[in-house]
Amino acid sequence: MKYITIALAKGRLAKQTLALLEQSGITCEEMKDKETRKLIFVNEELGLKFFLSKTSDVPTYVEYGAADIGVVGSDTILEEGRKILEVLDLGLGKCRMCVAGPVSAKELLMKNEIIRVASKYPKIAKDYFYNKKHQTVEIVKLNGSVELAPIVGLSEVIVDIVETGSTLRENGLEVLEEICDLSARVVVNEASMKMQRERITNLIRDLKSAIHQG
Ligand code: PRP
Repeated sequence: MKYITIALAKGRLAKQTLALLEQSGITCEEMKDKETRKLIFVNEELGLKFFLSKTSDVPTYVEYGAADIGVVGSDTILEEGRKILEVLDLGLGKCRMCVAGPVSAKELLMKNEIIRVASKYPKIAKDYFYNKKHQTVEIVKLNGSVELAPIVGLSEVIVDIVETGSTLRENGLEVLEEICDLSARVVVNEASMKMQRERITNLIRDLKSAIHQG
């Protein structure tokens, strides 16, 4: 039996996904070992391989077929823009992509002023400002702690993920505009979906029923 390879985004989402998989009868004991430095795990019985990768690489592995299936946030899917099939919303890691900043930046957004926008998601930011709002902005790519940018004067606003809103609140910033809702999705390689249709659709079906069972 050919292996089905599943790429999981390292971190909390991988843990939650593994719990869902376990609920649907798919386990990988090897992966539970917290000390392990191994990157790839096998369940011989079920013909499954799992690997953990950096979140932003999951769509790449799936597009190239190095993984047949991936589980990753829709923020990463939008930002990476890879040719992959999005087949299921797991409803995990729900949050929003927002434009945020100090309340004083609201006026700049309304007046369509040329402002700087800092983000870990330059593609999403560009698409929102250029294609949806038709506002010319300068986008500055950052790699984390994006909330710092308006505080230290790097940008007027940010485009970032808001989950509880506490990072914004604690830094005197607020949501100024909402771009879209986000959550974890299951993605599939296009060729794998044709070649391994039955096994992949069964796996998706099992995941779906695990979600419904809560
Ligand atoms: C994410 C995001 C926000 C924060 C939002 O950052 O970029 O900073 O979480 O969560 P909250 O609304 O519940 O406060 P992450 O923790 O991934 O770190 P990073 O900013 O360094 O990437």
